[in-house]
Amino acid sequence: MPQSQSWDPDRYAQNARFVADLGMPVVELLEPEPGEYILDLGCGDGALTEKLADMGCTVVGVDGSAEQIKAARGRGLDAHTMDGHHLTYEPTFDAVFSNAALHWMKRPDEVIAGVWNALKPGGRFVAECGGHGCVNTIVTALMEGLQRRGIQDSKINPWYFPTDDEYGKRLEKQGFVMHYIALIPRPTPLPGDIIGWLETFAESFTSRLPEAERGEFLAEVRTALVPKLCDENGQWTADYIRLRFAAEKPQ
Ligand code: BEZ
Repeated sequence: MPQSQSWDPDRYAQNARFVADLGMPVVELLEPEPGEYILDLGCGDGALTEKLADMGCTVVGVDGSAEQIKAARGRGLDAHTMDGHHLTYEPTFDAVFSNAALHWMKRPDEVIAGVWNALKPGGRFVAECGGHGCVNTIVTALMEGLQRRGIQDSKINPWYFPTDDEYGKRLEKQGFVMHYIALIPRPTPLPGDIIGWLETFAESFTSRLPEAERGEFLAEVRTALVPKLCDENGQWTADYIRLRFAAEKPQ
C-alpha cells in the first residue's frame, strides 16, 4: 500500500502553526540578505517563505502538496507544486532553505543532488528537519497500536530522521562543505490535544485501517501516550529532536 499523507491547510494552521513559529533559529542560521534569490524547499503554506520575502529576499517556494501551494499562493508568494526528490532548477539560487520538510523525503541523496544543482557556486543549503529519535515515543505507540491489529510493515513510517553524522556525510559526498550541523533535542509543547497532532501528521499510520476503526485507534494511541507526553495540567509535549545544518557549495 502506498504511503498516504494529505495536507489540509486549515487543519495545519490549527494544529501545526508552531512549526513555522519555531523556525526562526534556522532563518537566523541562513542569514538572508535583501536581494538574495532563495528556494524554500517544502514551503508548506508559506508562513516562513513570507518571512524571507518580508526580509527583502526574492523567494520561490516548492512543496509536494498542491493544497499547501494553493495556501502559499494565497499569501501572494511565487510557489509551485514539486516533489523534493525531483527538483528541476538550474544553478541560479543564492541559497536553498528548508524547515520541517526534509524528514518527509525518504531518498535523501536525490534531494541533496537537486539542491546542489539549484545552487550557484558559493550558494548555501541551510535547513532544519526532524533528526534521529524525533517523536520516537509517538512512532512507537502508533506502530504498537497497528501491530496489535496484525499490521506490521516498516514502510508505514513516512519519516526519515537521520543522525547528524549520516546527513553530514551525505552532504559532503555530494561536494558540500559543512559549516554547522547538530542534533538538537527540542521537546515541543503542542497547541492542543495530541489527537490534533496525530490527525495532522500521522495519516500514513491511520490510513492503514478502515475509516470506521480510526477513531478508536487514535484514542488507544492517546491513552498509551498520556503518561509519557501529557502533564498533570493536560499540556501535551511532543518529543521533537531537530537536525539543523548549514552547508556551502564551494566556488
Ligand atoms: C515536523 O513538522 O517537524 C514533524 C512532523 C512530523 C513528525 C516529526 C516532525
